[in-house]
Amino acid sequence: MTGRPNAESSTEAFYDDLAASYNDIIYRCAPRYEEMQDTLLEYIPADLQPEYILDLGCGTGNLTLKVMEAFPHAQVVALDLSAEILDVAQRQCGDDRVSYLQQDFNQLDLPDSRIDLVVSSIAIHHIDDPAKQRLFRDVFASLRPGGVFTFVDQFRGETPAIYDQHMKVWKRFADSKGVPPEEWEMWMEHQEQHDYHATVGEQMEWLAEAGFTQVDCLWKHVLWTLLTARKES
Ligand SMILES: C[S@@+](CC[C@H](N)C(=O)[O-])C[C@H]1O[C@@H](n2cnc3c(N)ncnc32)[C@H](O)[C@@H]1O
Repeated sequence: MTGRPNAESSTEAFYDDLAASYNDIIYRCAPRYEEMQDTLLEYIPADLQPEYILDLGCGTGNLTLKVMEAFPHAQVVALDLSAEILDVAQRQCGDDRVSYLQQDFNQLDLPDSRIDLVVSSIAIHHIDDPAKQRLFRDVFASLRPGGVFTFVDQFRGETPAIYDQHMKVWKRFADSKGVPPEEWEMWMEHQEQHDYHATVGEQMEWLAEAGFTQVDCLWKHVLWTLLTARKES
């Protein structure tokens, strides 16, 4: 891996350093990476026809590209904390239909009741649990009535034993993809310092508390889980 990030740096600096190599490593580090994003798109309600979409924690723009393809008339806002990774996203997704916003989930400044669809992939676990609950309320406020929030992310197991097993299964996957030990250790150090996994049950409850209905779990593999929620019309 080139430009190996320091796991002890802030999340912003970590992803700044990782930006150039992110697309090379994500496929060997996240099992079923494309499948989880493709499934997210498959379950967007047919009646939604989104024109204004927000991708939270867009990274290099891999999910952004997929939503652009799925909704060729939509405008997309790609939001991330890291300026360097937003630059890569901009090179990957262009400027015609995407605007780029450097913002922290902890201090979101979004328009009220305007967005049709908010998506996110493997990003929300970077903020702690009270911040997740605040984020869910902010997303709810930003959606127009009938709007949808759907995200895939890493979640904690319901028990310590299940969570422990998740980590073992993930390590076996990384070994099978030839992830070098130092790269695995870098992820694990980063996880210890910057990742906050909550359970599926907790996050579904927080979505309902934020005001969402139709809260459901649509897909799950080891840590990675896809949730959906809707703001009533
Ligand atoms: C694992 S990457 C996922 C990127 C992309 N969504 C994907 O699926 O490939 C996590 C992303 O979340 C961003 N991120 C982490 N914490 C954030 C925060 N507090 N506010 C905004 N973005 C954040 C990181 O900069 C990084 O680009």
